[in-house]
Amino acid sequence: MVTFVLPCVMAAKTLPSTGAVTGIKETLDFFGDPQFAQKRFKAHGDVFETRLLNQRLVFIRGEQTMADLFAQGDALEGWWPESVRQLLGSRSLANRSGDGHKARRRVVGQLFSAAALSRYTPSIAALVEELADELIQAKAPVQLVPCMRRFAFAVIATTVLGLDASDRQALFADFEIWTRALFSIPVAIPGTPFAKALEAKKRLLGRLKQVVAQTSAERGGLDLLSGGLDEAGIPLTDDDLVEQLLLLLFAGYETTASSLSCLMRALLLNPEIEQWLLPELLDQPWPNLESRSCPRLDATVLEVMRLTPPVGGFFRRTKQTIQLAGVAVPPDRVIQVALAPDLGDGSCDLAEIRPERHLDGSFTQTLLPFGGGGRVCLGKALAELEIRLMAIGLLQRVHLGLTPNQDLTLQQIPSPSPRGGLLVTASARHKS
Ligand code: HEM
Repeated sequence: MVTFVLPCVMAAKTLPSTGAVTGIKETLDFFGDPQFAQKRFKAHGDVFETRLLNQRLVFIRGEQTMADLFAQGDALEGWWPESVRQLLGSRSLANRSGDGHKARRRVVGQLFSAAALSRYTPSIAALVEELADELIQAKAPVQLVPCMRRFAFAVIATTVLGLDASDRQALFADFEIWTRALFSIPVAIPGTPFAKALEAKKRLLGRLKQVVAQTSAERGGLDLLSGGLDEAGIPLTDDDLVEQLLLLLFAGYETTASSLSCLMRALLLNPEIEQWLLPELLDQPWPNLESRSCPRLDATVLEVMRLTPPVGGFFRRTKQTIQLAGVAVPPDRVIQVALAPDLGDGSCDLAEIRPERHLDGSFTQTLLPFGGGGRVCLGKALAELEIRLMAIGLLQRVHLGLTPNQDLTLQQIPSPSPRGGLLVTASARHKS
């Protein structure tokens, strides 16, 4: 007798939906409520669909869901809202999929290799020392948030791209016009922020092209990109390359500034955490931190990113039906991976900041502040280096104190940042 073994096909569940029709109320809630996604996950499960204005979005979270998502990378492509797509440009690796995406990741990834990071370390350390001097010498309280923003921009613009001060100044002005319209209505009527941003983009790309033409080994890391090939093995054109550099400015600035500002805010608001951290920070050789282990600092940075993720989520679009944790997501759906913290049901301490949870084995959620799969953040190693150097270099030399009566709540868009600018007084720290 012949026995036929049938493959075990689990019937996939239909995609749960909030039932939103116009999406207006959902959009208002999305921008007004940091717990937007978490509340709906509680009601509908780890995969649900809703509508934000005219865009249908599938929100997802959870270990199994993420594992399933990353395992089906070939059935997905990158996705950004139309305004971001146009402002980043069609050549940008953020707007590419498949081999074209992979080829450009390989080229741009050379800027973040271990050798490249060692090259950047002295210049990043010098920026931290400059800031420490400025804070110690300040006669009045200083806002830390603008300092962190200036630092994060200088690292990409000067250390990585090798711009000199005048190029950087001009670039920064256009960059601010450009970023303001990234999440705006993409209609280029003259005078609108979007039209101004498209003009700014032209100037930015023109300036970046000049920088690429002048690249030398003494300035920045752009010489590391020579020999960059596209998916057909043909050298990347300058038009292509500068769109990748524009992406780096966008991807690496706001995110890193946010994580640095939120880290400083967390330490200022929780002096017991700073005290727990300080012995480890003071023990580090400055600035050569390569291969140094800093478990308390790493745990603190991760805990701050858990509670205030610099990026609220990332997107993919389905090319065909995929199954996520047993739920069928049809083709042509935009998926948003929500990175907002899961604070549990109130019966545990997940709403509290407690870095030790990452060292004592009590925390079991998977955190993805840098995304995952084939599109995981390309600048992760650089961001981690910047944060380490800033935390160690600044706190070894400077004692910071919060000035009273300021707004320490966080604005959420585009990335979390203390509304009052984090006003501090500073004094030199004398190592005992
Ligand atoms: C704390 C700082 C940062 C955070 C939290 C962060 C987070 C992220 C996230 C969540 C993504 C999306 C990943 C995905 O779609 O799976 C991403 C992508 C990306 N990030 Fe970062 N990022 C940071 C800093 C940087 C820096 C410093 C750079 C470079 C200068 C950078 C360059 C990029 C690029 C190029 C991509 C697109 C990758 C692709 O589409 O293949 N990021 N980042």
